[in-house]
Amino acid sequence: MNRTDEPAVVESWNEWDPLRHVIVGRADGGCIPPPEPALDAKVPEDSDMRGQWGPRSQETVDRANERLDAFARLLEKRGVRVDRPTPIDFNQPIATPDWRTESMFGCMPPRDVLLTVGKEMLEATMSYRCRWFEYLCYRPLLQRYCEDDPAMRHEAAPKPRLTDADYRSDYLSERIGVEKRLKWTAEKHFVTTEEEPLFDAADVLRFGRDLVVQHGFTTNLKGIDWLRRHFPDHRVHAVNFPGDPYPIHIDATFTPIRPGLILNNPDRRLPDDQRGLFERNGWEIVDAARPAHNSPPPLCYSSVWLSMNVLVLDPKTVCVEATEVHQMEQLDRLGMEVVPVDLRDAYAFGGGLHCATADVRREGAREDYFP
Ligand code: NVA
Repeated sequence: MNRTDEPAVVESWNEWDPLRHVIVGRADGGCIPPPEPALDAKVPEDSDMRGQWGPRSQETVDRANERLDAFARLLEKRGVRVDRPTPIDFNQPIATPDWRTESMFGCMPPRDVLLTVGKEMLEATMSYRCRWFEYLCYRPLLQRYCEDDPAMRHEAAPKPRLTDADYRSDYLSERIGVEKRLKWTAEKHFVTTEEEPLFDAADVLRFGRDLVVQHGFTTNLKGIDWLRRHFPDHRVHAVNFPGDPYPIHIDATFTPIRPGLILNNPDRRLPDDQRGLFERNGWEIVDAARPAHNSPPPLCYSSVWLSMNVLVLDPKTVCVEATEVHQMEQLDRLGMEVVPVDLRDAYAFGGGLHCATADVRREGAREDYFP
């Protein structure tokens, strides 16, 4: 069923209500960006990506696009309306008065850039220079939603300057080692400083009246404070996961499945003193199944934990990457209908099924799950 001719309605309050309209990213023109402070801190020290940059090969772009197109068709067959971003030429230098970098990134993970809270779609500040202009790929869609839905709010967080003052220089050394990284994570000593508000949308999870935000490499405390001021009718909770040496984007760490149930990465457990909100309200936090793979695909920024980067279609149905057999089994056991989706070939472009999408509309209203 294709309803693209009907006016769009923007509204989504959580990660699990029945999905009706979504944006699915594209791999076109995806680049490995040149070194820059925040990005270098995120690329694992043993990664095949260290020292490489430039456009990704056309063969990998085509394969990723085949997977993303098939995912979009699968969603459409299930009655979900799907829109796609408009890529720009990512392989060109960009600059502001403060810095210049030789290329951009791409428009594969819309979840990183767009945060939908109720009737608002908010463009995140972003925290990498190479992703500063990524919002441009979504402007045609956001302008259309604004025209279609008079109650929709299109907002953009203040664009950050991203000067060197935004990044801690001790993260720039070539070899830090996982032990020191874990110590720094536990001390909340992240690569981004508190120079100005920074957040990526993928550090935010929506639970109706509550927003849960990961404090880490891509979102700082000023960014969380900005979100708190921007959404005065929400309660905004900062969380952090000391077991993660590269803490960016919450959606391979903490994954709500339905009211009352969250999967948590067993290597990155939510500390006891941050569990009260969930425990007091009878929510179960379950260790996610181990990933089926020992390493990520080639030239991929993300960890093997994209296994838990699932897209919930409704509180009984969840899309899981088709090779992630353990995650599929676990969700099946937890009473979910599991829809396998072949997306691993698109991982290198910015993530899994949750990353590759951004909500436009889910049914349902803003509930208070943590009264
Ligand atoms: N920190 C994440 C990013 C996932 C979207 C990882 O595990 O790679």
